[in-house]
Amino acid sequence: MKKETIRPAKYLTGGVALPGDKSISHRYAMLAGLAEGTSELRHFSAAADCHSTLACMSSLGAEVKIDKEVVRVTGRGPRGLKSSWCALDAGNSGTTMRLLAGILAGQDFTSKLTGDESLQKRPMKRVIGPLREMGADIHGRDDNFAPLEIRGKKLKAIDYKMPMASAQVKSAVLLAGLFADGVTSVTEPAGTRDHTELALEEFGAAVEKHGRTIKVHSLGHGNGSGKLVAKSLDVPGDLSSAVFFIAAASLFLDSNVLLHNVGLNPTRTAILDLFVSMGASIEMLGLKSAQGEIIGDLSVKGASLKGGVIAGEQIPLLIDELPMLAALGPSTEQGIEIRDAAELRVKESDRIAALAENLRRMGAKVEERPDGLKVQGRSAGKLRGAEIDPRGDHRIAMAFAVAALGAEGVTVIRDAECAAVSFPTFYAELKRLAER
Ligand code: S3P
Repeated sequence: MKKETIRPAKYLTGGVALPGDKSISHRYAMLAGLAEGTSELRHFSAAADCHSTLACMSSLGAEVKIDKEVVRVTGRGPRGLKSSWCALDAGNSGTTMRLLAGILAGQDFTSKLTGDESLQKRPMKRVIGPLREMGADIHGRDDNFAPLEIRGKKLKAIDYKMPMASAQVKSAVLLAGLFADGVTSVTEPAGTRDHTELALEEFGAAVEKHGRTIKVHSLGHGNGSGKLVAKSLDVPGDLSSAVFFIAAASLFLDSNVLLHNVGLNPTRTAILDLFVSMGASIEMLGLKSAQGEIIGDLSVKGASLKGGVIAGEQIPLLIDELPMLAALGPSTEQGIEIRDAAELRVKESDRIAALAENLRRMGAKVEERPDGLKVQGRSAGKLRGAEIDPRGDHRIAMAFAVAALGAEGVTVIRDAECAAVSFPTFYAELKRLAER
C-alpha cells in the first residue's frame, strides 16, 4: 500500500494536464463496441475505471487497441457482441457495471458481471428493477449485489419513471432500450448528467428529449438507421478531476491555475456556479462545442471562500464533488453543510463516514448525519496534518490531499494509489503546481 506525503503549500501556479472525462469515456467505449467499424477515441480517460470498461468490451468481442490516450474500438454492430467465457470484471466502477447491465440485458447470451470488494457492496437493485420490467432475467446476491448473472432476452420498451435522480440508472434503461421492441422512455425526478443521450445521438441512435423525459428508439424498430456508426471523437478533460485543482487553487490568494479543454456540459457545471457563489475566482475562456458537449479553459485564482449549505436538487448535479466541498469546509468562512445526500453512503465508500472520520483526524469540528454532514468553518481553527485513511476511495484520497495543502504540518495519505481509479497522475500534478 503506497503512502503519499503532502506538505503545506504557499500557493498553486501553472497548467494542469487533466485526464479525459470519465463518464464520457465509458459511454464512447460502450457505444463504439456496439457500432459497425472502428471508432477513434482521442484523449480517452486514463482512469482505471474506464479501462475496466474497455476490458469488458474486449471480452465481449469488440477489438480494443490502446495507444496511450488514443483508443481504437472496432465493433461488429449492435448484434455483434459475443458471450464472454469468463466473468466480466467492472473493477471499482459502478458506471461500468450499471450501464453494461443495460446492454447485456438485451443480448442473446448469458453474462456474469462482477467487480472489486467495494463494487460488490454497492446497490444494483436500482438497475435490476427496471431491466426486469423490460423482460430481462437478472439475478444478483440478495437480489441487489454483484456478481450479477444476466440472461439476455428480447426486451420490451417501457416508460420508466425513475424513483431517484441517477444518470447511471437512466443510462442503463436507455441502453437496454436500443434492444427493446419500440420506444423506451425514462423520466427523471431531477436533472442528471446527459452524456448518454448526447453520445447515443452522436453514434446515430434516435433520441428525443421532452422536458425531463428522454426517449430512445430501438435499433430494430427506430426511426433511425437501425445501427450505430463508428466515430472519430475527442474526449474533453474531466471537470470532476479539475475540481480538485479549482479547490486547491482557491485555498491560497496568490494562486493562478489554468485548466485546458475542460468538459463544461451544463449538467456538470453546477459545481462551478457553486464555487463562484461562494466567492471563488473562476473564468471560462475559449468556449466551443463539439459532439454535443461544451469545452473550454478555466482560469482559477485564489479567493476567500464563504461556504454554505448544499441540499435538495443541487445534490445529484454535484454528487461527485461533495467530498472535495466537505473537505474544504474548515477553510471557508461559514463552513459547509451537506443535506439530502444519503446516496453518498453507497458510493465507492461510505463517503459521509469517511469524510467525518478523516476531517476529525485533521482537527475539524464535524457533525455527521444520516444524509450528510456539517463541517465548521475557519473560526473552529486551522486543519492539522494527520494520517488519512481514504477507505480505498479515489475521491476521498484526493480531497484530503488538497485539504492537506492548507493544513499545518505534514499529512500522509494511506493507500494513496486508489486515486488512479479516476486520476492516475493526480499527485504528480499536485506536486508540480504547489509552490512551497
Ligand atoms: C455517473 C453518475 C453518477 C456519478 C458517477 C458517474 C455516470 O452516479 O456519481 O461517478 O457516469 O453516469 P449516479 O448516477 O449513481 O448518481
